[in-house]
Amino acid sequence: MHITLNKQLNAPLYQQIKNQIIRLILSGSLSAGDILPSERQLAEQLGINRSTVNKAYWELKSEGFIDAQMGSGTIVASQFSRTAENTDAYIPPMPWPQIMTQPYQLSGNTIIKTALEAIGEPDTISFAGGFAGDDVIPVDLVKSLMPKCLSTYGSQLLHPTPLLGLSALRSALCKQGTLKGIQAGIQQCMITSGAQQAISYLTSLFISPGDMIFTAAPSYVGAIEIFKAHGAKVVGIPVDQFGMDTDILENYLIRYRPKLIYLNPNFQNPTGTYLPLERRKKLLDLAYLYQIPVIEDDPYSEIYFDRIDVPLLKAMDRHQYVIYIGTFSKMLFMGGRLGWIFGAEEVIQRLGFMKQVTDLHANTLHQYLVLEALQSGMLPKHLAQFRAQVKAKQDVMVEALNAYHIDGMSFNIPEGGFYLWLELPSRLNAHSFFEACKTLKVAVMPGDPFFPQATAEHTYVRINYTYPAISDIHEGVRRIMKAIEMATVTSQNQKIESYNDLIL
Ligand SMILES: Cc1ncc(COP(=O)(O)O)c(C=O)c1O
Repeated sequence: MHITLNKQLNAPLYQQIKNQIIRLILSGSLSAGDILPSERQLAEQLGINRSTVNKAYWELKSEGFIDAQMGSGTIVASQFSRTAENTDAYIPPMPWPQIMTQPYQLSGNTIIKTALEAIGEPDTISFAGGFAGDDVIPVDLVKSLMPKCLSTYGSQLLHPTPLLGLSALRSALCKQGTLKGIQAGIQQCMITSGAQQAISYLTSLFISPGDMIFTAAPSYVGAIEIFKAHGAKVVGIPVDQFGMDTDILENYLIRYRPKLIYLNPNFQNPTGTYLPLERRKKLLDLAYLYQIPVIEDDPYSEIYFDRIDVPLLKAMDRHQYVIYIGTFSKMLFMGGRLGWIFGAEEVIQRLGFMKQVTDLHANTLHQYLVLEALQSGMLPKHLAQFRAQVKAKQDVMVEALNAYHIDGMSFNIPEGGFYLWLELPSRLNAHSFFEACKTLKVAVMPGDPFFPQATAEHTYVRINYTYPAISDIHEGVRRIMKAIEMATVTSQNQKIESYNDLIL
């Protein structure tokens, strides 16, 4: 009789023994009259206490599965009848997490899921997401592109595309790239289902469990999650008001050899920083010196409020060390799930295979929509308007925050991107703060998960200004301030002055 015990399972050991014996009986592997090992023998065989076997046998006896017979020991009961009902009762639940592969065994951080869910909550003002709200999302643009796409491309909109994406779209992206100084031909470009898929593919391609990745600290939580799910050691290089500190990066590179450096140098998520030219040069020099690929994840460079003349890292790279990720999620809409990668041809070819074994190709209709937006010249027009709308929302947000003067609270004002990075007073209880936000129906992104390693020193939140309606921003900020008040105690254990009545 073969029984295996799993001490990691929630089910107690006696229950596991009992269930397995029942299964052996129900499956016919044990028949009426078969002799079971004695309690002592089974306990020794399984390396457990005899009382555990005793408990299992006792329950099996009382449920009529086994009998004790003088002289023969414990035997399978003869009158036991197999019915569909009792078969079902003894099939144990499938231990799903145990059979999952390592990246998915842990449930991970639920921050992105929570942020997406908060969007639909009635009466909640959400600053937690990272996308455009109804007042700025380009519905009219799509309305005018759609009929053109239908008449120009017809049935092609419904057919599959090549693995790497529509050639015409890849060509158009390469042309756009050239305008920004990026030298990439069509063989060095692929279309992905969003930047998230691009990060995930690149991680699968380069990272084995235990490999090290350097990221900014803080850095985009969605990338940190992917890296950790693949078993990478994620090391955070501190960010100051200019972005990743390249002096510290150099010190770390002297000591460690990461497999990859990942960053968003252009209006970083979450801090909004834009890496200055000198730091870009230094970062590339270090990458060349230590032969480390750099992933430039760039959803936000087109969302600038004043043109910035610092080139993209990929445009500065003349040796194919930088793999560039672009996306239409921020400049158009996130639901299209369309992004792209510029990288060395060897990399793109391997990624093409990954596309084949996952989802074959990115959504055809959206590829044509974006192609039409690029070719018709409507995208630059939309972007000019969108930047102004986003800036107006940022201004309202800043004005709302500036109406409050809370000791220890500070924030940056980025020159582009979607977010403010708010440092909260150190005497604030972070847990109470997020509870209070929930009660007050305001959603913000907690800052902690943006750090690859836990930091207890400060409490940060990331607040997005593109999603909430412009008319809701003041009220939303009032709720955040109220939550701060509810979660903050002074040294005399007093609540800080009340912002309840401040009407903006
Ligand atoms: C830095 C960064 N990378 C990637 C993504 C994911 O973008 P996509 O919607 O294209 O998958 C985001 C979205 O917030 C982001 O901020």
